[in-house]
Amino acid sequence: MLKTIAYENQQLYILNQNRLPEEQVWERCDSVEAVAAAIRTLRLRGAPLIGVSAAYGMALAVRDYTGAAEGLAGHYAAAERLMAATRPTAVNLFYALARMRTVFETAAGEPPEVIFAALLTEARRLQQEDAECNFRLSEHGQALLPDHANVLTICNAGALATCGCGTALGVIRSAHQRGKIEMVYACETRPLLQGARLTVWELMQDGIPVTLITDSMAATVMNRQRIDAVIIGADRIAANGDTANKIGSYGLAILAHSFGIPFYVAAPASTIDENTATGQDIPIEERDPDELRRLGERVLAPPEARVFNPAFDVTPHELISAIITEDGVFWDFGRKVRS
Ligand code: MRU
Repeated sequence: MLKTIAYENQQLYILNQNRLPEEQVWERCDSVEAVAAAIRTLRLRGAPLIGVSAAYGMALAVRDYTGAAEGLAGHYAAAERLMAATRPTAVNLFYALARMRTVFETAAGEPPEVIFAALLTEARRLQQEDAECNFRLSEHGQALLPDHANVLTICNAGALATCGCGTALGVIRSAHQRGKIEMVYACETRPLLQGARLTVWELMQDGIPVTLITDSMAATVMNRQRIDAVIIGADRIAANGDTANKIGSYGLAILAHSFGIPFYVAAPASTIDENTATGQDIPIEERDPDELRRLGERVLAPPEARVFNPAFDVTPHELISAIITEDGVFWDFGRKVRS
């Protein structure tokens, strides 16, 4: 399986996702500041991977601390604030920070190298747990797909967004292993093209049939091709099932509803935020207007153009047919009815 992050020889390395699909570049990313910057700039991205990366970042914060013992707690809290400020929507980030804090507090008073070892073990555990969740939810999810399935997805909820086989793409991988996938339609995912750059590349690496479409072609594809399911990942699922995912997901859900196509969300259970009652309470990241005004060096719009650039939208639970987690398939999420 594709790897995205690795702590080896006492250093943290990441696959720089901004360089894909042109080249696979592994970079040293070996301080809490470097990890925070990599998350902010989407070199590391995808909700589960953001969480695991943040966990490693917190371990590095302690490893690199050279001050007096009584200053460590303050240093840790500052590193936590830095990490928490990187991207607000994916709850996996906050879930991982909470797990790391518990370990930090349990180890309080120990020498820094002992605290670091405990934090590193927890980061590795989070990474391993993610791989296991991916696999289990994928096995549950593939059972929902018919033979010869045509599936539509958006963004990248694959191995590149996680530490395993992925969530939405994990379901597709499991179905493909059983010979059930005819075609995956990948929305390009403006403005940062995670669908075109990452999903298409990732599926092609595995020999899974994939067709790239622009986001605006989804209605035509649903109308003209037989689409059996839309499957997306999630950055945060509110307690009532409303789901934040990459901008464009909500539009796909409305289209799927209109065409009578099942709309599935696949995510580890840790993406469910019981502290967030509904989608209205999910903080939505707004990104740099230049992501719409430019494409690299190329100018796409007047430099002063007013821009609205939310990175995510919220699909109301009424439009979601089922939520797939490692614990099973929830058909009526609000009432926790699952199979
Ligand atoms: O901005 P990104 O690339 O981090 O957005 C990623 C997504 O929206 C994914 O669909 C989501 O994080 C789920 S990844 C398993």
